[in-house]
Amino acid sequence: MRFKGKSVIVTGGGTGIGKETALLFAKEGARVLITGRRRDKLGEVKAEAAGLGLEIEFTASDVSREEDCRAAVNYALGKHGKVDVLFNNAGVLHPGVTHETPADVWDRTFDINVRGTWLMSKFVIPHMIERREGRIVNNASIVGMKGFRALAAYTASKGAVVQLTKSMALEYADKGITVNAVCPGTTMTPLVTEGYLKRVSEEEGMRFMNSLHPMGRLAAASEIAHAVLFLAGERAGFITGSMLTVDGGWCAK
Ligand SMILES: NC(=O)c1ccc[n+]([C@@H]2O[C@H](COP(=O)([O-])OP(=O)(O)OC[C@H]3O[C@@H](n4cnc5c(N)ncnc54)[C@H](OP(=O)(O)O)[C@@H]3O)[C@@H](O)[C@H]2O)c1
Repeated sequence: MRFKGKSVIVTGGGTGIGKETALLFAKEGARVLITGRRRDKLGEVKAEAAGLGLEIEFTASDVSREEDCRAAVNYALGKHGKVDVLFNNAGVLHPGVTHETPADVWDRTFDINVRGTWLMSKFVIPHMIERREGRIVNNASIVGMKGFRALAAYTASKGAVVQLTKSMALEYADKGITVNAVCPGTTMTPLVTEGYLKRVSEEEGMRFMNSLHPMGRLAAASEIAHAVLFLAGERAGFITGSMLTVDGGWCAK
C-alpha cells in the first residue's frame, strides 16, 4: 500500500497504459481519478476496479480543452481535497511522413499530446506549490528522443513533452514538486493495435516492431505502469527532470 491516502489523476485512464497505471495505483491504496473522452471506456475501468474491491472515480474530460482540464483538477480536489500525483498520459498517434501530414492532424496531435500535458500541469501545480509537495509524471516516448520515420507529428510532439518535462522540473525543483517522464518503447495497447497495426499487415508490423527492441518483444502496459509508480513514489524523491526509458534496450542502440 505504497500510495495509501494519496490522490492521483491519470489522464487517458480508460485504456492501455493509463488503465493499467490507474489500477496499479488503486491496488497500492491511492484514490484515483481517471479522465478521457469516452465515458464507456472509463466506466469499464471503474467496474473492473470495483470487481477487484478497488475504487476508481472517473470524469469525462478532453485534455486539449482548457475548461475540461480545470474542471477535472477541481473534481479531484473536490473529491479528495488534494492532488499528490498527476500522470499526464493521454495521447494520440497518427502515422505519416512530414510532407504528407495534414495540418489538422499536426495541430490535433500537438493539442492533445503537448497542450494537454501543459494544461493539466498548469491547473495542478498551484495546489502542489501550496502544499510544497507533488509528483508529475509525463508519458513521453522513446521517439521523443530518437528520430523515427513516418511519425512526424507524433515524434515532434513527444520531443516537446521531453523538453517541457525538463523545464518544469527546473521551475519547481525548489517547491517540493518533481517532474519526470517515462519513455516507453512500443507497448501493446490500442494505440499500436488500432493506430499502427491496422495500417500494415499484422505479421509484418509485429516483426518490425519486435526487431526495434533488443529484447525482441514489445512492452506490456503493466511494465510501463510500474515505472510510473516508481517515479511517483517516495523512493524517487531526488529524481527530477529524468527521462526513464522502459524500452527493452532500444535506446541503448
Ligand atoms: N503504446 C505505445 O507503444 C506507446 C509508446 C510510447 C508512448 N506511449 C504513450 O502512452 C500514452 C498512452 O497511450 P497507450 O499506448 O496506452 O494508448 P491508448 O490505449 O490509445 O491510450 C490513449 C488514451 O488517451 C486518451 N485520450 C486521447 N485523446 C484524449 C484527449 N483529447 N483527452 C483525454 N484523453 C484522451 C484515450 O481515451 P479517449 O479516446 O477516450 O479520450 C486513451 O484512453 C500516450 O501518450 C502514448 O503516446 C505509448
